[in-house]
Amino acid sequence: MNNAPLHPTKEQISILLRHYESGRLGKAEVMAISFTHDFPKHQFGWLMLGILLTKSERHFEALNAYEIANSLSPQNARVLNNMGVTYKKLGRLKEAEISLRDAIALKPNYAEAHNNLGNIFKKMKELEKAEACFRKAVTYNPNLADAYNNLSLTLKDLGKFNQAFSACIKALHINQNFNGAYNNLSLIIRYFKFKDSNPKLYPLLINLLTIKGVVRPQNVAESILTLLKHDPLIKDLLGKKNIISNTRQVTSIIETLHQFKLLHHLMRICPLPDLELEALFVKIRRYLLFNIGKIKASDHIIYFFTTLCLQCFTNEYVYFESAEETKFINELEAKITETIMKLNQPELLKLLCLASYRLLHQYDWCQQLTALDQLDEIKKRLLEEPLAEKAIVKDIAVFGKISDEVSNKVREQYEQNPYPRWVNAIHFKGILISDFCDKTNLKLYSRKIKDVDVPKILVAGCGTGQHSLETATQFLGCQVTAVDLSLSSLAYAKRKAIEAKLSNLEYMQADILNLARLDKEFDIIESVGVLHHMYKPMEGWRVLTKLLKPGGLMRIGLYSDLARQHIVAIRKEIQSLGVGISDANMRQFRQSIITSEFKSHKELIKFNDFFSLSMLRDLVFHEQEHRFTLPQIANCLEELGLKFCGFGNKDVISNFGFFHGKNADIYDLELWHKYEENSPKTFRGMYQFWCQKL
Ligand SMILES: C[S@@+](CC[C@H](N)C(=O)[O-])C[C@H]1O[C@@H](n2cnc3c(N)ncnc32)[C@H](O)[C@@H]1O
Repeated sequence: MNNAPLHPTKEQISILLRHYESGRLGKAEVMAISFTHDFPKHQFGWLMLGILLTKSERHFEALNAYEIANSLSPQNARVLNNMGVTYKKLGRLKEAEISLRDAIALKPNYAEAHNNLGNIFKKMKELEKAEACFRKAVTYNPNLADAYNNLSLTLKDLGKFNQAFSACIKALHINQNFNGAYNNLSLIIRYFKFKDSNPKLYPLLINLLTIKGVVRPQNVAESILTLLKHDPLIKDLLGKKNIISNTRQVTSIIETLHQFKLLHHLMRICPLPDLELEALFVKIRRYLLFNIGKIKASDHIIYFFTTLCLQCFTNEYVYFESAEETKFINELEAKITETIMKLNQPELLKLLCLASYRLLHQYDWCQQLTALDQLDEIKKRLLEEPLAEKAIVKDIAVFGKISDEVSNKVREQYEQNPYPRWVNAIHFKGILISDFCDKTNLKLYSRKIKDVDVPKILVAGCGTGQHSLETATQFLGCQVTAVDLSLSSLAYAKRKAIEAKLSNLEYMQADILNLARLDKEFDIIESVGVLHHMYKPMEGWRVLTKLLKPGGLMRIGLYSDLARQHIVAIRKEIQSLGVGISDANMRQFRQSIITSEFKSHKELIKFNDFFSLSMLRDLVFHEQEHRFTLPQIANCLEELGLKFCGFGNKDVISNFGFFHGKNADIYDLELWHKYEENSPKTFRGMYQFWCQKL
């Protein structure tokens, strides 16, 4: 008779669980396997093996383990739940649904199973059913942050933004470190205008801005400012019209602002898109310049000053500067230079005052400064990083000579004003191309692209690299080559790639027109906001199409003629007035727009690009600008042998559905043209779309 035990002892089980809970997954797996050999009829070993195999993404083997576990004891809701999740991972959605329904039948208040079932419906695009499941999940477990976040994502897709926002905030109140929920929050609040004050949100929004890789701050800045401007203290500051006449008053304003860490954070990492706050800061900056000798260097004043410097550096000194200020700055500059020549250090406040008007790294003496040694962030951002870029320029590979006249003019523009001066980009969790195509609803004309697992990507016209860095993190295993005309933009981009420790991204100076000689082909080519700045956009587009493999995907961003009519008017005005492109000229013109009552001027102020100098130059002072209509784009695609796969501008798709009906074909450019004629502001940024080479 065989007296071998039928199940592991309590001690053995608890050892395995301890390995698992302490993250010793290898040891846990060895034990789980031995349980399945020694006690093959006991469910626990198979269940644990399934869980461990799932953890290491071995889903087929995990499913096998769960199926055995289920056959041994079909009444275990957890096994059925895990089976459901694994079926989903394997793309077997119907079986996943059945398994999860079985789990719920056994245990109706099983919150995780409701949450998982919701995910299946979401994947099947049955959003109402998904919403109902997520609501059940949070009813049964009000602490299930993941279910709140999923509910929020679903509500967002259903166009219920207010509810989506509340659900997302609940997820974040439960788990303040939930990156996925911050990601979601960034997408929801992008178009959100707050109607009330709500200081409880400030810490979450600070996290949103400071957790690396979650958001492009400029995408949420406007919304965050609508919240801050409802705060009674800020309302009060702005309501007084900011007449600043003495030091006590300015100190009191700075003290009030000190309470708003969120505002400080925002100001340090992106241009503030708000004219009322700008007017306040312009006045404070001017007062401080004129009275710098009278100001006491308290910690709060220094902190405010560093924020102001970082804001001005980031917005590329877009704030208006009067002739009187210029005179004072020149004097201040001369005094500081003299001090340093005498081997002394300037007073900190004076130095910060200068840095709020001028680039510090441009001065020969900047390397002799020790006065900033206590201010790490200022020293790094205002001195070390720009100096590092100067050194990096020499390491950038150059491909061919830039000989086209327009390319040279455009290069010159972006050498002077690299576009844009960004601080944070999104670091995506890389996914397979096939998942990306599904997630973004791309209509594919050849499915070959879905099988590419090491995609070669070209970013043509990468600017300062925010775009290429995001692309490099977006696709699993990808290798990105990014090119641009401007060396200073490329140096910025390369510095940021080094900072992000990305090794799958190489930068090269090249004119798109020369890339025909590049002996390479790409699976994906992205060129956003670039071709419309070439003398003949189709020439550039043709070169890019030749570099794309058959079946490859291309992402293009082009200006819309319908959306930019007010820009056309302003460009004409700039031309007829003969406004130059020096920083002072552009600032002066910008000031005239701020105070103007004309409709086209007021429209311009609504663009985020109005709030930094390189972006303003890009917006209305560009050397070369073409605009397109959708019928023209359809013709270009036809001529190039490319097929339209869908817009990347996600936010516009639901409105298109409202206009043409839910079942209208979102891949039909004629329908889109009708829609755009009716809503000409739809593509005010630009058209961003994907196309495929046959
Ligand atoms: C508006 S920026 C866009 C940058 C980036 N794609 C983004 O979305 O942030 C345009 C960039 O295209 C580059 N560019 C324009 N014409 C180009 C050409 N012929 N070859 C390569 N780059 C070009 C410019 O130097 C500039 O950096």
